[in-house]
Amino acid sequence: MPVDHVSISNLSEHEGETVTLKGWLYNKRGGKGIAFLILRDGSGLAQCVVNQEEVDEASWTAASDASQESALAIRGSVRADERQVGGYEVQATSVELISKAEDYPITPKEHGVEFLMNHRHLWLRSRKQWAVMRVRNQIIYSMHQFFQEQGFVQMDAPILTGNAVEGTSTLFEIDYFGRPAYLTQSGQLHGEAMAMAMGKIYTFGPTFRAEKSKTRRHLTEFWMIEPEMAFYDLDDNMSMAEGLLCRLVTDVMSKCATELEMLERDLEPLKRVEGPFPRVSYDEAVDILHSDETQRMMDQRIESAKEEDARLEAELAENKKAYGQAKKWQKRKFDAREIEIHKRRNEIEEDLRNLPKWKESARTFEWGTDFGGSDETVITWHFDRPIIVHRFPHQFKAFYMKRDPEDDRLALGMDVLAPEGYGEIVGGGERATDLAFLEAQVEAHGLPAEVFDWYFDLRKFGSVPHSGFGIGLERTVAWICGLHHLREAIPFPRLLDRIHP
Ligand code: 4AD
Ligand code: MG
Repeated sequence: MPVDHVSISNLSEHEGETVTLKGWLYNKRGGKGIAFLILRDGSGLAQCVVNQEEVDEASWTAASDASQESALAIRGSVRADERQVGGYEVQATSVELISKAEDYPITPKEHGVEFLMNHRHLWLRSRKQWAVMRVRNQIIYSMHQFFQEQGFVQMDAPILTGNAVEGTSTLFEIDYFGRPAYLTQSGQLHGEAMAMAMGKIYTFGPTFRAEKSKTRRHLTEFWMIEPEMAFYDLDDNMSMAEGLLCRLVTDVMSKCATELEMLERDLEPLKRVEGPFPRVSYDEAVDILHSDETQRMMDQRIESAKEEDARLEAELAENKKAYGQAKKWQKRKFDAREIEIHKRRNEIEEDLRNLPKWKESARTFEWGTDFGGSDETVITWHFDRPIIVHRFPHQFKAFYMKRDPEDDRLALGMDVLAPEGYGEIVGGGERATDLAFLEAQVEAHGLPAEVFDWYFDLRKFGSVPHSGFGIGLERTVAWICGLHHLREAIPFPRLLDRIHP
């Protein structure tokens, strides 16, 4: 490797020098005797200018032959040019074709999401996917920093387990040498054991749920971070979750500004992510669903969706009329806008189908049942930042939850709901500490007591109040990046109908 090999992201440190860039051809323009090669190396994009007269014949041939995603090494001098991507440009002195890519399947034209998902291994090279993965990386890094700075110990919970954590309906069962075992749904129970050894811990690992529904919020394999803290009550737990989310959003906004811009993320809702988050009890949330104000909000949304649709329809008609006389470049603009309008109108159509159902389901919501995705969305409309819903009816919550001493019908759980329709991204609560109560709960939930013997021990030997929560990494990434579906928030999504590539 030449000593002058540098990353595109470091070009600013090499102005005026001769360097070598190594990467893949992202895009190419050219004319007679000149080629503009946009190179991507994973750290960024840079334009490299190749003048036929200034390079040898082999270099010119390499530049001419290079197709989209061909691998290249380009040597040249660095100059600042703020009009170019990344703000720097390289004037090539030599070009080497490391390997040629034949007929790269993902071209700049529009592709359907199924096609892109089937080519996920290549799609990851595209700009938007690149930006998402960089934000994901920042979130993971900030997550570790946040907990480590406060003296938490990271623990690895087992992935193969003998017990359910979050109910038995989403377990992936495997044959463990003739005995049944499961892929973990959550590291929480083992995390509790470790918290009794360390005080404050967090797990960070893959978790699995055999979700048989196709929604944009569910993966069958996702990554979860689960802090568990001895001597923390429900309020302490809520503050911890709030602090974490604020930190993640702040870090991504300051360290991934370019990525957010590529993703066209509206920053206004992110800027409002500041503590304290409104803390809303389940009872209050139900009131919100039942309120006249919610019904009015629904009507307003239906109205404005109809208005927007009419506006877009009119714009489409205008463009059609102008199309005949338009110049070629104008036609291209119209074509692009038409695709955009169709996409938006499909979304509006979906909203207009959903909103009346949501309106009805909010009005008739029954106390004692769990919120659906639409209920969560509707509740968050009433606030300008994430909210924390707490104290749920125990019947739809996990066996390990502590009951509210003030009201035995309620479990001391809490969920953080993100705004903009992202819904639950954090779930957690205060844990039951009483042995007899826990034993009764295991039985009431139809779970086999013998696999929980070790968990019961935690209540026999120095049981203390403790709390924790789980934050879904992909839901957090999707929310902060503004992605519609979780499948783009993880490198290789696992869904009901997808385990390839
Ligand atoms: O609310 P959940 O099921 O809670 C637990 O697993 C607890 N044991 C956590 C704890 O207290 N230590 O899951 C926690 C979070 C959800 O809020 C969501 O962000 C994410 O995990 N999550 C999923 N993400 C993607 N796909 C799925 N199928 C998910 N299920 C849960
Ligand atoms: Mg939950």
